[in-house]
Amino acid sequence: MDNRAIGVFDSGLGGLTAVRTLRKLVPNERIVFLGDTARMPYGSRDTETLRKFAEDDFRFLMTKDVKYILIACGTVSSNIENVMTETLSVPVTGVIEPTAEAAIKTSDNGNIGIIATEACIRSGAFQRKLTDLCPSVTVTAVPCPKLVPLIESTSPDEYSHALANALDEYLKPIKENHCDTLILGCTHYPLISDLISEHLGYCVNLIDSGAEAARYTVSQLTEFGLLSPSEKNGDADLYVTASPDRFTSSASFFLGYTPKEATLVDLQIYE
Ligand code: DGL
Repeated sequence: MDNRAIGVFDSGLGGLTAVRTLRKLVPNERIVFLGDTARMPYGSRDTETLRKFAEDDFRFLMTKDVKYILIACGTVSSNIENVMTETLSVPVTGVIEPTAEAAIKTSDNGNIGIIATEACIRSGAFQRKLTDLCPSVTVTAVPCPKLVPLIESTSPDEYSHALANALDEYLKPIKENHCDTLILGCTHYPLISDLISEHLGYCVNLIDSGAEAARYTVSQLTEFGLLSPSEKNGDADLYVTASPDRFTSSASFFLGYTPKEATLVDLQIYE
């Protein structure tokens, strides 16, 4: 049993998909969430930059004495692939493995689509994991560079025309290749899953990478004896590197309750 918090990070709102699943599964756990909103989007960055950002994010969370780190970001998970995590003194989970496993279990026809950021698709991490798990699978991987900036800039209850047009473009190959399962490989995308289903126009199983990583985290905490003994609901402390007010109001929408105000942090002072 361990009363320390679970650390979660992403470039921004996407990480809340993991937070909301953790809240449902283990409401008594405390969560420390970092959204690096000042440097969002991560998806257009090169691997070296992403490693540096991930180091900053890990370092910040470790100052909060977390017992476990969930990388709620497909872009970072796919570009560091366990390299840096070996140096940390707490267990770390990314989204690639749990999400790929869920997709393989879900697909009936073996045609699996992935939509994710440019950096995530370029890394090939999801594609490799899927074919390792099931060599006969057919993978359609589509980079979607416009989605994160649009999700972050549009009011959540009123998505823009631009988002609809982008989805039409990105989902075309998924439809053409008859994918019955679609990995939402960027954690921002489950925030618009209704819109994605609507634009697909036929029944496709959507795999939420944030939720899958959160489920896996809970199973790991259980296995390692790290669950909290508390019987009270745990707090979620939100930290961001820019625009805390805006983040708090979007977080209320996506989490379905009003969290404590997000706190602005400067990651440079933790270097
Ligand atoms: N939500 C993140 C991901 O899962 C980051 C997206 C971005 O900042 O481009 O890839």
